[in-house]
Amino acid sequence: MDKLVVNGGKKLFGTAVVPAAKNALLPIIAASLMLDGESCIKNCPDLSDIRASRDIINSVGSTAVMHGGDFSVVYADSDICSISHSLCTSMRSSVLYLAPLLYRRGKVTISLPGGCNIGARPVDIHLDGLCRMGAKAECIADSITLTAAAGLKGINYKLRIPSVGATQTLIMAAATAKGLTILKNCAREPEVADLVHFLNCAGAKITGAGKSEIMIQGVESLCGVEYTPIADRIFAATVLAAVNACRGICLVKNYPVEYMESFEKQLKKTGLCIWHLASSALVLKTGEKAADIQVHTGYYPAFSTDMGPLLSAALVNGNGTLTLYETVFENRFSYMEEFIKLGLCCRVQGREYYQTKRKDVYIANLAAKDLRAGAAAVVAALAKRGCFTIEGVNFIDRGYEKIEQVFSALGADIRRVSVDREKANETE
Ligand code: EPZ
Repeated sequence: MDKLVVNGGKKLFGTAVVPAAKNALLPIIAASLMLDGESCIKNCPDLSDIRASRDIINSVGSTAVMHGGDFSVVYADSDICSISHSLCTSMRSSVLYLAPLLYRRGKVTISLPGGCNIGARPVDIHLDGLCRMGAKAECIADSITLTAAAGLKGINYKLRIPSVGATQTLIMAAATAKGLTILKNCAREPEVADLVHFLNCAGAKITGAGKSEIMIQGVESLCGVEYTPIADRIFAATVLAAVNACRGICLVKNYPVEYMESFEKQLKKTGLCIWHLASSALVLKTGEKAADIQVHTGYYPAFSTDMGPLLSAALVNGNGTLTLYETVFENRFSYMEEFIKLGLCCRVQGREYYQTKRKDVYIANLAAKDLRAGAAAVVAALAKRGCFTIEGVNFIDRGYEKIEQVFSALGADIRRVSVDREKANETE
């Protein structure tokens, strides 16, 4: 296990490059199993969730290789139709293999997915939609088996809630189902639209990307493509949060400007300056403007639930209060305990989080308890003068490639230490 050691309080100066979005890559990689021949997905960061996706594809008889930012997939027929329990529980996105394997094998068995402990996160909408398309479901303990020997048929279907993952599952299923599918109350996140763009490049007939109503005319087959997913708006928000909290000036390349307005708007209230250049953003913070911030998270285009922890981190040196109301997940404030260790005054009442500055603490051992809470703990530690450690780096590695290198390239004093090696040295 690794941990991060941070000597915080330094201003940030340098360049950050935004990789392809994890939450676009994961469904696109799953969908690549539906494409005949070879596909190549570009600008792919080396994340543990991406490695798990590679392992899932290899475990069902196809070939996935990660090399120099390219994620290559060559589909191969096989009679393997189940994914191991360990791979299924390693991330949330294992559920996204239901539709591709149902299309390819007519049968699929997975365990309930893993993923960040941010709420109950059931998969009922995924299953309800697939069954209405003709699949038969058998759920025993935490195992799900779906069969559709005769394939799936197009339906008119309204999602109970605009679930990102369920929308992606039903888009994939409908892409090669017989007939027309009309999905209503779809998630409108950019990562859903990017999956549609990917599938259309492969020969699918899907309209309504990014809208709440999506129409899919099923096709017989899809062919392999080369594709570059959209940039990661949550990664970009993480860098902006760090500059806002630490002060300094940074150039953020491959900046997804079209998805950043709601996050930028809040940080500008506290004095952050942002200039949008061609495909980059120049971000400057020299001093604190006092501001009380109130934000409700919600389904896109509302303020992203994933950006909530990063907004909290961005404001750890703020001169004002933050009131954050979380509407999507039940357990999104696991970073609160870590911020209290850093001297902040924080409290949660139901879905409402409150934060304000109180006193400085110069040494603390922090822990990441989920991906975005872990990133928030890193940003908060960078912003505070003192020496801090952060455990649970495995959570952070799910969504950031070598986060310590991202910030040390901006002048931060942060390094990764192998806890096992540290103990071994102590015993020598
Ligand atoms: C995706 O998760 C993202 N993950 C999450 O990002 C993101 O927070 C979330 O969408 C919302 O934007 C990936 O794309 C891999 P949902 P997903 O289905 O698809 C409920 C990160 O940090 N629900 O939109 O699992 C669910 O419990 C991660 O990168 C059902 O009730 O989210 C939640 O309350 C964290 N039944 C709400 O919908 C279902 O069948 C939204 O979940 C499915 C979901």
